[in-house]
Amino acid sequence: MHAVRLLSTLFVTFVYFSTSLAQLPLPNSTYLPPNASFGVQHVNDSQKSSVDPHWSSLLGNLLWFYEAQRSGKLPSNKRVPWRNDSAVEDGRDAGLDLSGGYYDAGDYVKYTYPLSFSLMSICWGAVDFGGGYDSANQTAYLDDMLRWGLDWLIKAHPSPNTLFVQVGDGDVDNAYWGGDLGIPTPRTSYQINETSPGTDAAAQASAAFSACSALYANHSLSSVSNPASLTNISYASTLLSHAQQLYTFATNTTERTYQTSVPVSGQAYASSGFTDELTLASLFLSLASNSSQLYSQAVSDYQNFHLDEQIRPGSESVFNWDGKSPGIVVLGAQIAKMYPNLASSSTSVNWTLEAEDYLDGIVKGRGRTFLTDGGLLWYPGDSNDASLNPALNAALLLTRYATSNLPPSSQRNSYLTFAQSQLNYTLGANPMNVPYIVGTHPNSPQNPHSAIATGASPYDIANIDTVPEHERYVLYGAVVGGPDTRDRFWDLRSDWVQGEVALDYNAPLLSLVAYTIMNQTTATQEPVFVSIEEGSYVKPKNSPCDDAVKTGCGIHPWPKGAKIAFAVVITIVGLIILGFGTYWIVLATRNSTKVG
Ligand SMILES: *[C@@H]1O[C@H](CO)[C@@H](O)[C@H](O)[C@H]1NC(C)=O
Ligand SMILES: *[C@@H]1O[C@H](CO)[C@@H](O)[C@H](O)[C@H]1NC(C)=O
Ligand SMILES: *[C@@H]1O[C@H](CO)[C@@H](O)[C@H](O)[C@H]1NC(C)=O
Ligand SMILES: *[C@@H]1O[C@H](CO)[C@@H](O)[C@H](O)[C@H]1NC(C)=O
Ligand SMILES: *[C@@H]1O[C@H](CO)[C@@H](O)[C@H](O)[C@H]1NC(C)=O
Ligand SMILES: *[C@@H]1O[C@H](CO)[C@@H](O)[C@H](O)[C@H]1NC(C)=O
Ligand SMILES: *[C@@H]1O[C@H](CO)[C@@H](O)[C@H](O)[C@H]1NC(C)=O
Ligand SMILES: *[C@@H]1O[C@H](CO)[C@@H](O)[C@H](O)[C@H]1NC(C)=O
Ligand SMILES: *[C@@H]1O[C@H](CO)[C@@H](O)[C@H](O)[C@H]1NC(C)=O
Ligand SMILES: *[C@@H]1O[C@H](CO)[C@@H](O)[C@H](O)[C@H]1NC(C)=O
Ligand SMILES: *[C@@H]1O[C@H](CO)[C@@H](O)[C@H](O)[C@H]1NC(C)=O
Ligand SMILES: *[C@@H]1O[C@H](CO)[C@@H](O)[C@H](O)[C@H]1NC(C)=O
Repeated sequence: MHAVRLLSTLFVTFVYFSTSLAQLPLPNSTYLPPNASFGVQHVNDSQKSSVDPHWSSLLGNLLWFYEAQRSGKLPSNKRVPWRNDSAVEDGRDAGLDLSGGYYDAGDYVKYTYPLSFSLMSICWGAVDFGGGYDSANQTAYLDDMLRWGLDWLIKAHPSPNTLFVQVGDGDVDNAYWGGDLGIPTPRTSYQINETSPGTDAAAQASAAFSACSALYANHSLSSVSNPASLTNISYASTLLSHAQQLYTFATNTTERTYQTSVPVSGQAYASSGFTDELTLASLFLSLASNSSQLYSQAVSDYQNFHLDEQIRPGSESVFNWDGKSPGIVVLGAQIAKMYPNLASSSTSVNWTLEAEDYLDGIVKGRGRTFLTDGGLLWYPGDSNDASLNPALNAALLLTRYATSNLPPSSQRNSYLTFAQSQLNYTLGANPMNVPYIVGTHPNSPQNPHSAIATGASPYDIANIDTVPEHERYVLYGAVVGGPDTRDRFWDLRSDWVQGEVALDYNAPLLSLVAYTIMNQTTATQEPVFVSIEEGSYVKPKNSPCDDAVKTGCGIHPWPKGAKIAFAVVITIVGLIILGFGTYWIVLATRNSTKVG
């Protein structure tokens, strides 16, 4: 009896340790990224299963990137050998454990707002294209990736009306360019709460919990595909309760943007409004909780907030961490089709019409977007920093709509072809011959803007581009910002506009690759980069001109003395013109008065 008990205790302990990383058992042979030379190795048919190994390893690498971005105490079976435990005391200033989660981008700050968008995006994609994760044997890593983020988001929501929106300080962090062992402290924890609310941040976090709850509850959004196989009803209900509380927090407090309450977050991620997040949160929560009342709420919010103005070609919004309206109409169309019982009582918005107005606008070039000469979809303004992200998010909406709402085949094909052109561009079919994913091909970026990978000495930012000569670690699977509007890419470490990595940059590509794998007809073909010749990337002449690097802007900065002299001259000339103008107006008025 005693012996049996002891044995079962041992067994339980073993199970506990072996599953403490992921709830789903990880594959027997750990997936690790192959080195970049794999990207030019053709794989012959005898070596292929149903999926070309380049596609499955691309999916694997995109997930591996998130593991490299982990904060907190890392598990003993970590796959990124060069990462260390870090920021394990996060939250101590608030008397809480806020360790864990993910570093947002190339530095060491944790931001809840874009993290929530990324988690929502990945869960939504895994609902739509789950078969891709399953057949690439990546579902356990997906589960692991999501839980590392969601378990932290749960900690960041310690009571119904409190949500931590940032841990770490941008200013302090921007001055530090070292590895994960010397991250500067103290790291401040910033919150929204009942007296200092933030409608958008609470609603976006709610939408992340709802989308992921729907995934773990196996709620399908398409008649032709199933969510990834990671169903766990108890986890789904934990996520749902956080989604509901955050939705109440968002709707039951003064409505305002979260940076009104936490101005430091606005330095990096200022939200332009909260009405789109509120509406998207209602819609995702209606799906997760099977509520027709919340569905109706979303319909009336969409109308009352005039979100259709953000859909119409000409004034159309980008879909990203800040802009949600294009996602609302596509999700609305999916829910209305798959769950007519939710939608039947509220028919005053036809999501199909709304979604197709937006998506046709992109594909037919009817709106404010255009294609670069090399074929990248460009939203003026929104694409100027991190150009691949708006294009990939649009490609994902097109793919999702085409495959779940099943429009007529000509329209469906035009959506899928357009989306594939953006995917191909990202994978190397571009004037630079660069697959914009680190470590995937010999032409992939060598200099991503990432403190964690660079191996520089901590405060040597002045020499960021040259020291060290080669980055110490390869940040496999990281999608970089992307090229400029003339398709040029410099692979320059200081150029965070083109070269930074971020949680939300990887998110849409993950779902697009999962779709490609799910659609086996294309996944048995090699991705476009395999045929791109090694060494065919030629760094453009001159240098960039963007928000990070000004040396290529042509206008050379004036010395301070010249600026002052110029200002004085302009002022004097202005006064003279003003004097003459006034004199002339007075004369003219007198004359006309005389005539009148
Ligand atoms: C993985 O290993 C376990 C135990 O060693 C075994 O039962 C299982 O069949 C293996 N799975 C695969 C897919 O090989
Ligand atoms: C990359 O992997 C290939 C095998 O796929 C191996 O031959 C080569 O030595 C590796 N190169 C480096 C730099 O590790
Ligand atoms: C397939 O590739 C392997 C490894 O590159 C090679 O050994 C084998 O001969 C190839 N088979 C065919 C049929 O080309
Ligand atoms: C997934 O795992 C199965 C079973 O181990 C294997 O037969 C298959 O080739 C794997 N597929 C990929 C894409 O790795
Ligand atoms: C992790 O620690 C080791 C020393 O134990 C160090 O060599 C490595 O660079 C550290 N990793 C990072 C990302 O700083
Ligand atoms: C509520 O949030 C504001 C803004 O972050 C903060 O200044 C305040 O201390 C918080 N209130 C409590 C009770 O923690
Ligand atoms: C998930 O739902 C699909 C049908 O939509 C079903 O085929 C599948 O078996 C379900 N998976 C689980 C684990 O319940
Ligand atoms: C489901 O998730 C819960 C919460 O994370 C976990 O405790 C449980 O082991 C999971 N169940 C299965 C079957 O994976
Ligand atoms: C909504 O807010 C009011 C006061 O602002 C508070 O009394 C009430 O308990 C809140 N309701 C919920 C469900 O949190
Ligand atoms: C929405 O508009 C489409 C296209 O005109 C139409 O086919 C569909 O029946 C409409 N749906 C509803 C619910 O009215
Ligand atoms: C994308 O690339 C693949 C592989 O090279 C090619 O077969 C396909 O036609 C391309 N699609 C588009 C829309 O350019
Ligand atoms: C798979 O891709 C092909 C080519 O893009 C497309 O024609 C087909 O409709 C896709 N199938 C599905 C199920 O998406």
